[in-house]
Amino acid sequence: MKPTPLCEADINEDDVQAVASTLRDGWISSAAPVVEAFEDAFLAQIHAWGACPDLGCVATQSGTSALWMCLHLLDLPQGSEVLCPATSFVASIHPFLYQKHRLRLVDVDPLTFAPTLEAYQSAKTPETKVVLVTHLYGLAMPELLKLRQWCDAEGLILIEDAAESLGTLVEGKPVGTNGHYGFYSFNVNKTLTTASGGILVSEDHALLAKVKHQSTQAKCYSSGELFHDALGFNLRMNALHASLGISQLKRLSSFLDAKSRIADGYFQAFKGHPALNFVHHHNPPYQNAFENITPSYWLNLLYLESHDKRKALQGALHAQGVQVRPVFMPFTAFDYVHPFLVEASLQDPCSQFKNAYALWERGINLPSSPHLSEDDQARVIAYTIRSSI
Ligand SMILES: Cc1ncc(COP(=O)(O)O)c(C=O)c1O
Repeated sequence: MKPTPLCEADINEDDVQAVASTLRDGWISSAAPVVEAFEDAFLAQIHAWGACPDLGCVATQSGTSALWMCLHLLDLPQGSEVLCPATSFVASIHPFLYQKHRLRLVDVDPLTFAPTLEAYQSAKTPETKVVLVTHLYGLAMPELLKLRQWCDAEGLILIEDAAESLGTLVEGKPVGTNGHYGFYSFNVNKTLTTASGGILVSEDHALLAKVKHQSTQAKCYSSGELFHDALGFNLRMNALHASLGISQLKRLSSFLDAKSRIADGYFQAFKGHPALNFVHHHNPPYQNAFENITPSYWLNLLYLESHDKRKALQGALHAQGVQVRPVFMPFTAFDYVHPFLVEASLQDPCSQFKNAYALWERGINLPSSPHLSEDDQARVIAYTIRSSI
């Protein structure tokens, strides 16, 4: 039987035609007008969801490069302290490591998988310069608007990692647009894909202009000569990826509907099985925490009773050709990250970051492709229930 993938892009003939048409046209570099057309279309979408009208954006080769370029241009001194969640995908923190910042980890809330406002407030020190918030799996940090107010009052820079949560709303506002800077990923497994790509959004138009300039090798022309006025990068999105993005954007609402339908399907199937705690806004343990959130359910998440049960379910589903993935390990599990952590974050991490560790031990992501068929989802559900009895 064909394996059921964890989360695959939904590419149709329109997408193929959009990329083919750019190829035929021949202007395929990052300087092609289609890259700006993608940025305009993306902005129109987030404005339609209620984002601040003054937001601008710059499309990049990946979400990682969007964050990296943002940090590079912010140009904070090496060693600047960043408050950041104890767990996420590693790309949330890598650009901070490239810039040699110091991370002070904050444990996540056991229901939303992002730190609470109170947790950030008690972690802050006089050295803190930046706050990173990540919205994982299509969920969100529910106190996002208050977090921004607190950062403004304290003179802190708030960066939102919305790589996994395009389309998620908090108090009616799209996540990714409430920080001083926010970014999304259009990697191949994301709700909207450009094969590989990302975008930085902000009201800081001066910084966005510098990102655009320096992500294309800081090229300048004067008196017919090409010169460079800064140490640039080659990190801007190219025209083929942008063409795919424009085409995918036209179907974004159908992808989001599909994700929500898939999440509802898992919720309905697992609700009578107390050992299968499915993360969903209708599931009683999560209802209050999700009150202000409209999740986009990028990757569905099942929270099991123990590490052994998670491992057993993972093995059983893999044996049936169902791709599942354990939840990310906390950052303290990776030795190469340690030199970038403040000393306090290395002290007894398993108890200090107990929610992040529990999430990794017990959490498993289930197949969530937008075109997951009802039959395939029914198979995943049946195997999950059978192997957990
Ligand atoms: C939470 C999170 N942050 C950052 C990234 C980086 O995005 P990209 O893969 O586009 O570099 C990803 C995804 O891949 C992610 O899941």
